[in-house]
Amino acid sequence: MIRQPIICVLGHVDHGKTTLLDRIRSSAIASKEIGGITQHIGASEVSIDIINNICKSISNKFNFNLKIPGLLFIDTPGHEAFTNLRKRGGSIADIAIIVIDISKGLEPQTIEAINILKEYKTPFVIAANKIDLISGWHKTEFPSIINALNQQNQQTIDLVETKLFELMGNLSEYEFNSERFDRINDFKTEIAIIPISAKTGEGIAELLMLISGLSQKFLELKLNIEVKGPGKGNIIEKKEIIGLGTTIDIILYNGSLHVNDIIAFATATGIETAKIKALLKPKTHKQENNFNYLKQINAASGIKISANGLENAIPGSPLIQVIDNSYIDEIKLDIQDVFETDNKGIILKTDTIGSLEAISMLLKNENYNIGKKAIGNITKRDVLDAFAMNVKDPNNAIILGFNVSIDKDAAEAAEMSNIKIINETIIYKIIDKYKEIIEKNIKNRTEEIESKLIFPGKILIMPNTCFRASHPAIFGIDVLSGRIKPGYVLITENNNIIGKIIGIQNEGTPLSIAKKGDKIAVSVNGTTFGRQIKDGQILYSKISKNDEKLLTTEFSYLLDADEKELLNQISKIIEKK
Ligand code: GTP
Ligand code: MG
Repeated sequence: MIRQPIICVLGHVDHGKTTLLDRIRSSAIASKEIGGITQHIGASEVSIDIINNICKSISNKFNFNLKIPGLLFIDTPGHEAFTNLRKRGGSIADIAIIVIDISKGLEPQTIEAINILKEYKTPFVIAANKIDLISGWHKTEFPSIINALNQQNQQTIDLVETKLFELMGNLSEYEFNSERFDRINDFKTEIAIIPISAKTGEGIAELLMLISGLSQKFLELKLNIEVKGPGKGNIIEKKEIIGLGTTIDIILYNGSLHVNDIIAFATATGIETAKIKALLKPKTHKQENNFNYLKQINAASGIKISANGLENAIPGSPLIQVIDNSYIDEIKLDIQDVFETDNKGIILKTDTIGSLEAISMLLKNENYNIGKKAIGNITKRDVLDAFAMNVKDPNNAIILGFNVSIDKDAAEAAEMSNIKIINETIIYKIIDKYKEIIEKNIKNRTEEIESKLIFPGKILIMPNTCFRASHPAIFGIDVLSGRIKPGYVLITENNNIIGKIIGIQNEGTPLSIAKKGDKIAVSVNGTTFGRQIKDGQILYSKISKNDEKLLTTEFSYLLDADEKELLNQISKIIEKK
């Protein structure tokens, strides 16, 4: 038996996800197929009859023989909710639709959603929405975009093409190969873009047909499920409901569940079980808190479960029907990857397993390490742990929080110990802010080291410029190469130490640095003009082994080619003794 594929609708705020689902729902209702649309918790199911009906004007163009019983659509308020649709090694969503406002193009959250889909290896198509807002668009009665495009004048068609071309260009910057759906040769390597208007319904036919066809073609094996077997799903949300107490909203992707079944799930501290008291479905999609009570549900579906003992359940956790003791290993295996950490790194606290996994993946992609991760509030313990990390690396003395609160004593401790806490409700903002801190740390460290490093410098004592012979000797120089600063020790080409520069002046004005080409005066302690040094002599800055190493490795970018050559020359001089 093939179950209906689970389709997740993702996209940036206001790009039209809910409108698209409403449009599919109302087309379904308009097509008068009684029972063709079923409302689930957080999802709606559209039967295959309705899909065939909406698509009948274009079905001659696609030779799909649809065997799936329908499509289960999941709307997500933000893609963070999508991350809770996780299961071991991927996503519960079989396929995703990314809704993009065609006039706005890619937004940071769109990119992030695409990256998460890529990580989960979830196939997806792009709905380029709000096509009706393209200048000159003439609204048609067709649910088909190809038919609708045929009715537009050339100028409008050109505008659509330009917009699509821009979108493809932007996607290719992120290494995604995309193409208008009807020009695609290989759906495995190219992402299909379907222009649509969620408002007018144009393009809905092709979108539904493509989604149905692709999920059947590529996912047939995955969709072959045991409808009667033990239930397997994922907790999407935990909610308090008056009269019901703590309830969980789940998506069941395998098997079935009945009232009185025992279910197991993860908590912040282990694994717990509960006995199902009620399986609840909303009566209509407008009445989210008015329920029908069911005895049994089959995959795939969204359902609310009421039971005693759900208080500690964490969203994102797998949910497994308890048949025997294997559930313990199964849940552990499912979540162990998510909680794996590096030896050292930052501290990550989030509200759900899904967000913990998604943020970990995004940090990993940027090569950042996570030293500790957990579900729950930011506590004083976390601050102390971050403080201990600080000793090893200031870049790790940071706590990242997602959708969590900060304990009062934790905030105080962080303030006192100078530990930074980034607490956000949008994933990409966390990553951005963390990057900013890291970059600032690197900049500060560079500035600090740069101010302490001795750079290569080569100077010529200009003839007849000695103002004073000693204590200190003051004379004019020409910086031939590199740079010199007060504090630099000067050596001869035979590695004899001359003395230390105590000041640099240009016509009476003190300088903190002199660079190649500058002709200035220096005062040098520890030498007597006419004895150790004389007119026309060449001197170098003395560079320690340690500075030489830093300048040839981590900080080599601070030197130009000329200075690198000079550094080489100076290290040879220093090796002379
Ligand atoms: P969030 O759930 O907040 O992330 O937004 P959403 O992606 O669900 O967007 P929603 O469907 O709420 O649409 C946002 C606005 O865009 C609404 O005012 C819609 O009426 C409008 N809109 C959506 N699709 C279309 C479209 O195809 N054409 C036009 N003209 N407006 C649209
Ligand atoms: Mg919405």
